[in-house]
Amino acid sequence: MDIKLTLNGKIITDSVDCDMMLLDFVRRHKCYSVKRGCDTGNCGLCTVMLDDVPVLSCSTPVGRANGRRVDTLEGLTKEADEFIGFIAEQGADQCGFCNPGFIVNTVALLRENPDPTDEEIKQYLAGNLCRCTGYQGQLRALRNFLNQRNKSGELNTHAKVYGEDIGREWKNEGV
Ligand code: FES
Ligand code: FES
Repeated sequence: MDIKLTLNGKIITDSVDCDMMLLDFVRRHKCYSVKRGCDTGNCGLCTVMLDDVPVLSCSTPVGRANGRRVDTLEGLTKEADEFIGFIAEQGADQCGFCNPGFIVNTVALLRENPDPTDEEIKQYLAGNLCRCTGYQGQLRALRNFLNQRNKSGELNTHAKVYGEDIGREWKNEGV
């Protein structure tokens, strides 16, 4: 089938198999940030935005994206750059394989809810699995980023400093 969509702001036309998944399509078009983790819709590593809504590209047929807009981390760098440094600073990534999916979902969360509570963060990102860490670093990084925004006069009424237990609690809920 022929397909036409906008990938990271660029119009792409291609001829694809009907059963091709969006994950394979975006990687075929050099969006290598999108990772194949479980390939069964369970880990969140393959998350991309479809018309601004995060979807699991491993279980989204590319036909569903026909005529629509797809954004991967490659197309979200401006928004993502704002908090990527906080992730590194907290040592939140080890192998880094889960990072792109986590970051795309975080961009989606902050667009939808610029001032999330701890519970809202945990719930929104619960589908993003990380095999290396206890999630504490990611959560702390996101909270520190929000705290920083607060200092510069933006939103964040839920500023808080995290302890070890929060990371464990998040992991248990997330897995
Ligand atoms: S690779 Fe898509 S959810 Fe795991
Ligand atoms: S840092 Fe390795 S899977 Fe998350």
